[in-house]
Amino acid sequence: MVQISPDGISARPHLPACTRRALSLVTAGVLALAGVVSLAGPAEAVGTLGNAAAAKGRYFGTAVAAHHLGEAQYASTLDAQFDSVTPENEMKWDAIESTRNSFNYSSADQIVNRARSKGMKVRGHTLVWHSQLPGWVGGLGTADLRTAMNNHITQVMTHYKGKIDSWDVVNEAYQDGSSGARRSSPFQDKLGNGFIEEAFRTARAVDAGAKLCYNDYNTDGQNAKSNAVYAMVKDFKQRGVPIDCVGFQSHFNSNSPVPSDYRANLQRFADLGVDVQITELDIEGSGSSQAASYSSVVNACLAVTRCTGITVWGVTDKYSWRSSGTPLLFDGNYNKKPAYDAVLTALGGSTGGGSGSCTATYTQTATWNGGFNGQVTIKAGGSAISSWTVPVTVTSPQKVSATWNGSPTWDTSGNVMTVKPSGNGYLAAGASTSFGFTVNTNGNTSTPAVGSCTAS
Ligand code: G3I
Repeated sequence: MVQISPDGISARPHLPACTRRALSLVTAGVLALAGVVSLAGPAEAVGTLGNAAAAKGRYFGTAVAAHHLGEAQYASTLDAQFDSVTPENEMKWDAIESTRNSFNYSSADQIVNRARSKGMKVRGHTLVWHSQLPGWVGGLGTADLRTAMNNHITQVMTHYKGKIDSWDVVNEAYQDGSSGARRSSPFQDKLGNGFIEEAFRTARAVDAGAKLCYNDYNTDGQNAKSNAVYAMVKDFKQRGVPIDCVGFQSHFNSNSPVPSDYRANLQRFADLGVDVQITELDIEGSGSSQAASYSSVVNACLAVTRCTGITVWGVTDKYSWRSSGTPLLFDGNYNKKPAYDAVLTALGGSTGGGSGSCTATYTQTATWNGGFNGQVTIKAGGSAISSWTVPVTVTSPQKVSATWNGSPTWDTSGNVMTVKPSGNGYLAAGASTSFGFTVNTNGNTSTPAVGSCTAS
């Protein structure tokens, strides 16, 4: 049983400020529900990625590079905003076992120990991968390679036993494109299809407390590659091969945007009985379009009960593996980008501008004998909003015959439609969008009454 001290939080002094705040909210909520205390004053704003995600039962993490931890702004942004970390390169085979049987954990330890001292989760990335693999591995014969693979998994997982939330046991084992085939690698080519199963079985035997994930990219929507991974996971679950989670890297740009079936794809994997995690999220772009894409990813995760967390692939654009695409939530000066506001808003947090607001403004854009077109422009106030609704009332016997860029719901009179976004409703602070509609006047040319915009 968790002991709760008088302030409800000091029983866990090792937790970071953001986690303690989230805990205090949860604790206060539990106590209030039990009738033990009543909350005085306004509820505390949920104002960081980590604690907003925690309030939704998820973690929000970032990839971390050990050699940036000494930079004050890097460290303070990491500590303030995130509650999970993934070493970006420090746990890869070439970093830990560049020479056979000689294990160097120093950089990875630096990240793991620091994160754990601040109450953050750690994702282990990655045990078996064709890339960043030292040359000696590829030179081994079949039996020796099997020994080396199982030894690497065993040594590394033993070193970190009890400290890792989820391990990417096998990374990127499938080809891109339409084949659905496995990628050529020393493991695939010499050990055959069974190498993935063997890696997972070995991993489970070492640390039964860590969640074991398969992680890949270009598997974010339903396609030949994700279908192949799906078939593997289904087979593993049916045969009792130990797998707990599937990681969806989610590296997006204009050539590879967030797929329209992203949520459905996460859900079909979850329905196999595994957790799903968004493991390396970054989206090239800027401004409100980048923000809207980030928002859709967060909303997809929140819509899937078994989507347990999101990790972005870096703290700041300047250290991203594709920095020219400015794909992250903080710019090179650690300023929060619109994408940051979008993520926090989607997580239900507050960006500090108070609760979101919006305005709705009507204009008539065309008129003809017997009808007219109206347009309503929605503008977000001083903070980003996730979505909006606007009521529009026409006067009988007028009839609305068409709407566009908005999705109407009608009241029973048939005169009042409440319009919400057709797709993603995210608007950055001060940003605008519009929807339109056609009215058949049936002899009445009154101007429609546009009610106030409600933000959420
Ligand atoms: O550390 C050396 C440095 O000493 C040297 O001077 C420098 C010269 O190029 O290279 C440095 O190593 C680089 C390393 O990143 C650390 O910065 C490597 O060249 C470079 O290849 C390596 O890139 C990493 C890449 O994986 C390797 O495949 C990226 O940082 C890392 O973000 C990226 O992460 C991968 C995930 O693990 C798997 N999914 C895709 C994702 C993006 O590619």
